[in-house]
Order: sequence, then C-alpha cells, then structure tokens
Amino acid sequence: MIEFKDISKHYELKGQTIRALDQINLEIPEGSIFGIIGYSGAGKSTLIRLINLLERPTQGQVIINQKDFTALDARSLRQERANIGMIFQHFNLLQTKTVAANIEIPLKLLGISKAEREKRLNELLDFIDLKHKKDAFPDELSGGQKQRVGIARALANHPKILLCDEATSALDPQTTKSVLALLKKINQEQGITIVMVTHEMDVIETVCDYVAVMEQGKVIETGSTIDIFSRPQHPTTKNFIQTVLQQQLPVNILNNLENQNHNSIYCLQFLGKSAQETVVQAVIKKFDISLNIVFANMTEINGTVIGQMFIQLLGDPAIIQQAIEFLQQNGVEVEQSGVQL
Ligand SMILES: Nc1ncnc2c1ncn2[C@@H]1O[C@H](COP(=O)(O)OP(=O)(O)OP(=O)(O)O)[C@@H](O)[C@H]1O
Ligand SMILES: [Mg+2]
Repeated sequence: MIEFKDISKHYELKGQTIRALDQINLEIPEGSIFGIIGYSGAGKSTLIRLINLLERPTQGQVIINQKDFTALDARSLRQERANIGMIFQHFNLLQTKTVAANIEIPLKLLGISKAEREKRLNELLDFIDLKHKKDAFPDELSGGQKQRVGIARALANHPKILLCDEATSALDPQTTKSVLALLKKINQEQGITIVMVTHEMDVIETVCDYVAVMEQGKVIETGSTIDIFSRPQHPTTKNFIQTVLQQQLPVNILNNLENQNHNSIYCLQFLGKSAQETVVQAVIKKFDISLNIVFANMTEINGTVIGQMFIQLLGDPAIIQQAIEFLQQNGVEVEQSGVQL
C-alpha cells in the first residue's frame, strides 16, 4: 500500500508561495490500478512524483508498504526506487539509442550481466510485441510503439509499482486503448500496482479500480471508480463524469417531447444491466401515472455496467413522488432535471 500522510508541497516562486499540494491524505491499495484525475495545475504530477521522491514533500510522509520513504537515506532510497517504474507522456526515450539499448538502461545501471540482460530484453520485447523493432531507433516508431518501449524499460527490473504520468495523452484513441489494455494486463498478470495520472475520464473509466479527483492541491473526492461514477458528490467530479456519461437529456430529444415540462423529466441510474426493465415495468404496473422512456444508454465502467434511462413522469404529483420513492427503494438513483433527489 502507498500512503500519503498529511502531505503538502509548497514552491517559492518570486516571493510567492505556491501550494501545489495541500494536506493530502490518501491510500493506494496494493495491486490496484489507481487513477488520479484533475484539471491542469491541480497537482497531479507533483503528487505522483512524490511516490519515488523525485520531489520531496514540504510536509508529511510517503509510506510504501509500511516503510517511510521520506526518512530513507540516499542509498536505501536508490534501492527502493528500483522497485518503482515510471512512464511519461512524451515517452522520454533516448533518441540516439536503439529500442534494445533504451530498454536495457535500467538493467545496466544495476550492473546486471550481459547474458542476463539479453534474456530479460528478449522477454520484454516479446511481452510488448516489438521483437522486430529491436534495432530500430525511437524516430522510426509510432507513438504507441514508443510508449510500449517506455513500458518495457519501466518493467525491466520487475518493479512492484508502475507510475504513469499522462501516459496516453499524446496518443490517438485507438492507440490509447491498446496501451491501456497492456497496462491492465501488466496489473492482472504481474500484480503490479499502477498509479495513473490523467485528465481524461475515459482512461479512468476503462482501467482504474479506484480514483482520486484533485483540485487546487487537494483531493476533493476519492473512492472506487464505480462508486464515484454512480454517486459523484463534488461539482468538479460531476464535470469530469459528464464527459463520459450522459447526464443531461440531449436538447433535441427534449424539444421533440409533446409535454416539454422539464420538471417532468427524470434521469434514472442503474448499476448492472439486469434490473432495469423489471423495475420500470413494476412502476408502470403499480402506479397510476404515465411513464414514457425518452432515452436510454449504457456505459461500461472497469467491467461494471451503468445503465441510464431518461423518463417522463406525468400525473398526480403525490403518486409521482411515491413512484420515485419506489425506484429509490429498489436501488435506482433518481435525478430530476440535474437535481439529485
Ligand atoms: N518546480 C516548480 N516550481 C514552481 N511551481 C511549480 C513547480 N512544479 C509545479 N508547480 C506548480 O504547482 C502546481 C501543480 O502543478 P502540477 O504540475 O503538479 O499540476 P498537474 O495537475 O500535473 O497539471 P497538468 O495537468 O498541466 O500536468 C501548479 O500551479 C504548478 O505551476
Ligand atoms: Mg502534470
């Protein structure tokens, strides 16, 4: 487990104090893929760089598997860092070295013999599926291939933790998918904890088990991805979720409704796909109101389906209220015109 205990990081710039991180307490479970999301300047990179102490905190402790990293001497820290790999947005490959030489850098630094290096190199090239590019230079690779080389280099020493700072931000959507699938595979097959900084909610949605949302140096919301997606609390979190989940009824659909009373529109959110129809059927049977399904969609979040359905309820307000309570009792989240009930 990685623990941030009361972490602050301040920078002094032209006589001004910049609070890049402000009293952060956070736990990252071992073996998870943990996403950190926030807008530019929120403090994400500063936070992830504290894990291997590329930055030192102004205050607080970074504890990894019960070991206080902030208290280690230089030599112990060097040893511990060998267990932490890192990949970057712009790959950070050495342009004058071949793919093989780039991947071998961390192995050479640890003084590993040529025969062993060769063996590990071949395993890694196999794993990232780039054996045929062994002697190519970074310039000759696509973005996705460069990032795979970055990943192989980060994995060379069998790290227990892999840090990714915007690792897919420079890639197109298709390549992003394949790199994310590779990271998921690394996590599942090798049990490596992956900490992933991003400003894209679909990255979180696709692979992360947990997420922390950052704003102005603080963690404003954290939890399992599915909980955060189904019950976001903070407006910033809601904004991020809006980018991947439909939270408002598309205007053209609203305009085409016979009764355009916005207050009659409700957004239902279901966890899992099975329950949806049964619950809605039950409402129609049980209550003397008219229920029109206006729009429905489904999104998969790290393997779990969230279903959304926009309905229009018309009739006696008291009965509508009862119907809503019935839905809520059946585990459905109900919102009216963007207002959580
Ligand atoms: N070396 C530094 N000196 C001074 N200020 C810094 C330094 N590094 C970061 N900051 C400031 O700390 C804050 C957090 O920066 P950080 O790079 O962690 O944000 P971020 O969330 O990673 O943003 P982005 O999405 O743009 O990468 C910003 O206000 C930034 O200007
Ligand atoms: Mg950053």
